[in-house]
Amino acid sequence: MTKIKLTKKGIKMTDPEFLNIANEIQGNILKSHGRGHTSQIFFRFNPNNITKAKAFIQNFARNQVTSAAIQKEHAELFKTPKKPQKTFFGFYLSSLGYDYLQISPDKKPQDNEFLQGMKASNDALEDADVSTWDSGYKTDIHGMILIARGDTRKKLDVEVHKVIEKLRKGTLATILCVEEGDGIKNTNGDDIEHFGYVDGISQPHFFHEEMEGKTTVDWNSIMPLDLVLVPDIASKNENAFGSYFVYRKLEQNVMGFKIRERQLAEELFGDPDSELAGAMVMGRFENGMPVTMSPTDEDLTIATDLTVGKINDFNYNMDTAGAKCPFHSHIRKTNPRGESPFEEPVEEKHHMMARRGIIYGKRFIHPNEAEIEELPTKDVGLLFMSFQANLANQFEFIQQTWANNENFVKQKTGKDPVIGQGNFKNGMQKYAKEYGEKSSITATSGFGNFVTLKGGEYFYAPSMDFLKNILAV
Ligand code: HEM
Repeated sequence: MTKIKLTKKGIKMTDPEFLNIANEIQGNILKSHGRGHTSQIFFRFNPNNITKAKAFIQNFARNQVTSAAIQKEHAELFKTPKKPQKTFFGFYLSSLGYDYLQISPDKKPQDNEFLQGMKASNDALEDADVSTWDSGYKTDIHGMILIARGDTRKKLDVEVHKVIEKLRKGTLATILCVEEGDGIKNTNGDDIEHFGYVDGISQPHFFHEEMEGKTTVDWNSIMPLDLVLVPDIASKNENAFGSYFVYRKLEQNVMGFKIRERQLAEELFGDPDSELAGAMVMGRFENGMPVTMSPTDEDLTIATDLTVGKINDFNYNMDTAGAKCPFHSHIRKTNPRGESPFEEPVEEKHHMMARRGIIYGKRFIHPNEAEIEELPTKDVGLLFMSFQANLANQFEFIQQTWANNENFVKQKTGKDPVIGQGNFKNGMQKYAKEYGEKSSITATSGFGNFVTLKGGEYFYAPSMDFLKNILAV
């Protein structure tokens, strides 16, 4: 049997090497499950239930957890005329969950940030204090079960209730909270987040098939498997891999953001309705078009046409002054596409992660249509989720060393206005008043603090082999 090389890029879904690991890794890591409705069940096992807890996990893994191989089968079925819909199940354990199950330290995932848990990183990440988090997250969390369907929330809820019943049976576990993620699409069928922008365009890709027909001249998103996979040291099976999983409930103050967006548009262009200001904040127009690629300030047709925009083959080589896309814009901060002055482009790419988030919260008026006074200030946001091989070098690095750092990409660049945390100083973030014109770049007052952490945890997505045989571990 050929052992897989995790440094391999662009593996084919039909390669024997992938088929060897496909039954041993959970789905959703290498490729998104792609379903528009999800529920996340956070739980803690009750004291003295170790064997019962292991039996539950073993049974759940053998019968329900979706491996990468099963996910692929589901995707094939979905291509057939009747499009049968299958439920996706993912199972994740926190460091405290491993401890509860008395997994010996030499079999526990070794990542230091995982072992400490997300609360330990609170100060370093300048996150909202744990005392302000939603109550389910303030306490010790042992695990999370992700359940997803593509058709209806109602059908998903039936599955969710069955799992909750099993967790509650015989007081096995306490349910700490259940989050519901339900995607919203624009009129072109693209997923948008609550500020109204198309999301999920730029991702690392692991499979050859995903990049067929796409150009990779200025940005190649094919990444090695070890960007997200690590050997599961609790398993003797050489094909058993796991992945570190970040979960953050990020609340969005949509009204505050949109009011500030209009003020910025007035300040820069004398027109509160200009789409360009928000695009400069995000780095992409609402339709996804990278702002660095928009032809001119006046000709925004390309940026407002929903059928174009989801371009990802670009970098910032033609915009080294930040006169089109500001250095502090969300997507330039979180993926500088080779312009980090501190690392070679190949090392810079090791910070990327596979984003798998979904939005939460009900919107009674579509985000792209609501008037300012109809916008929510709370109870809506993003359930940010991502897979990576190293929490410090990927999620934490992007949040702390790039997004929160006012001196990245250059000195006095300012924080990321979307996800940056901490104190936003005036005079740091800079925008060109005339699109593409370096001499028109102007410093503005601080734009930020519209996204707040309401809770989260670091988890590990163990291998199928570990989960299916946990009673013997
Ligand atoms: C409520 C919070 C957030 C919102 C509203 C948001 C919104 C967006 C949008 C609209 C895009 C552009 C679509 C795309 O390129 O895929 C994007 C891209 C991205 N975001 Fe976020 N995001 C949020 C949180 C985060 C967090 C917490 C991180 C990481 C710490 C992050 C990292 C990224 C990355 C890496 C990209 C792709 C950049 C690229 O490759 O060009 N985002 N986000």
